Amino acid sequence: MASEAAARRRRHHALAVPLPGQGHVNPLMRFCKKLAEQEGFTITFVHITGAYFNFQRQELDGKQKDGEDEGVMRLDIRRTHVDMPDPSELGSLDVGAGPIQCGFAALGSISPQIEQLLLQPHDPPITCLISDVFLTGPTQSVADKFNLPRIAFYTCSQSLLLLANYIREGVMSLEDVLKALEARERLKDNIFKEGLPGLPTIKVCDLMEHFQENRFLYTNGFQVMQETTSKARAIAINTFTEIEEDALQVDTGIPIYAIGPLVEPLENELNTSLLKEDEACMVWLDSQPCSSVLFVSFGSFAPVSLPQFEEFIAGFLSSKQRILWVFRPNLVKDAPFTTFPEEVLSKFHGRAYVTNWVPQVKVLSHPSVGGFLTHCGWNSTLEAISHGVPMLCFPYIGDQFLNAKFIIEEWKVGLGFKENKESGLIGREEITRVIQTLLETEEGECLHHKADSFRNACARSYLPTGGAFNNIQAIVSALE
Ligand code: UDX
Repeated sequence: MASEAAARRRRHHALAVPLPGQGHVNPLMRFCKKLAEQEGFTITFVHITGAYFNFQRQELDGKQKDGEDEGVMRLDIRRTHVDMPDPSELGSLDVGAGPIQCGFAALGSISPQIEQLLLQPHDPPITCLISDVFLTGPTQSVADKFNLPRIAFYTCSQSLLLLANYIREGVMSLEDVLKALEARERLKDNIFKEGLPGLPTIKVCDLMEHFQENRFLYTNGFQVMQETTSKARAIAINTFTEIEEDALQVDTGIPIYAIGPLVEPLENELNTSLLKEDEACMVWLDSQPCSSVLFVSFGSFAPVSLPQFEEFIAGFLSSKQRILWVFRPNLVKDAPFTTFPEEVLSKFHGRAYVTNWVPQVKVLSHPSVGGFLTHCGWNSTLEAISHGVPMLCFPYIGDQFLNAKFIIEEWKVGLGFKENKESGLIGREEITRVIQTLLETEEGECLHHKADSFRNACARSYLPTGGAFNNIQAIVSALE
């Protein structure tokens, strides 16, 4: 009987399609790795290349070439790639569409490329599709056409999914949300909605935002989620009970499997970095005292304004703390420079290490790192708590505001910054104050302890008694 079950399982071969951004590729690959650890489960992982806006910097390096991952524990994970359509050749786009719209429009036309992949011979044959929630349109239709079950993969929090549901169902009116965002400066601290099942009290400042494109994100993003929830066989979501217990208890009428936090022990990491990582920063970290370094990274695309960048520099300098800073070439909006100014670096007298891109999980696991100034992307958030690193929150777009709320108010593993009402910036004194609170005071010490307790909870999730472990088995069964 046992071998019969094993033989049945052996036939699984998933075609996995992430949204082509670092914050989506990383967790999907980690999820695929968890599936490939199940007996007889093969993965073909699709990298979408030739892409647009923030994706265009990302190229496949030697490690991401098509072929098989020799890798960890001899898992059967193969890689392939398809080219993304050029948005400028799509007739359907509005004149003046923003970069996010353009990117999604191009990705929306990627079904033929996915079909081509499915028509190629595979051994074993492809039995299911796993794709990002935001690729529901182009991938669910292909899954339906080929009569394959699809698992929708969701890279954000369950709380955001609930918020989206409440807006879609009219429990929160979309018009009210958009109005509040327009008046954000005035209403920021106002309570927007209380008593929503599974969610804490939502203030205006917790709502997701993205300058002129917020309407697009609210309408399009939520529509996509509706399609996902109605058609996918299941949703796999990168979260776990200890951080979102209330949200995960709400019955949304669809099978949701919490399979997070998808952060691998270092020795098991498959390389999914789309950019070349600077390993030398690890050598610099080795020479710094324990828990002394503030790691600063704003994910793969969040920018800062030039005046805010100047405030950060001044704040970092007067904090007198050690800084490891990821300075992407496109980090500072409208800057007259794309590399970090040498004359600024010299003012730190060796206390700062600035580089383009780092192996972030490795950095967060290094004992010299004492705090993380982050844009609160969901992956960065989970990577930090998985390694017991407290955070300073500087959210920029979308879900990051809600994530910051959880970090600061709900889990109490981080601090926020107070904005200067006149300039709209976070001022240098505030930056210095918050950094010193984290790295030099008893309050900071408490944040460290709290973060450490989450580290232990994360580690438990994949033990045979843990939630993620069981849910991954359940997903495999749902595919039977
Ligand atoms: C965005 C959203 O912010 C996030 O909430 C959503 O879940 C995915 O899309 P992004 O802004 O890129 O993602 O941030 P984040 O989710 O933190 O992902 C960034 C990834 O890049 C992390 O896995 C991080 O480890 C990695 N990274 C970042 C590096 O490997 N090196 C770096 O130098 C910086």
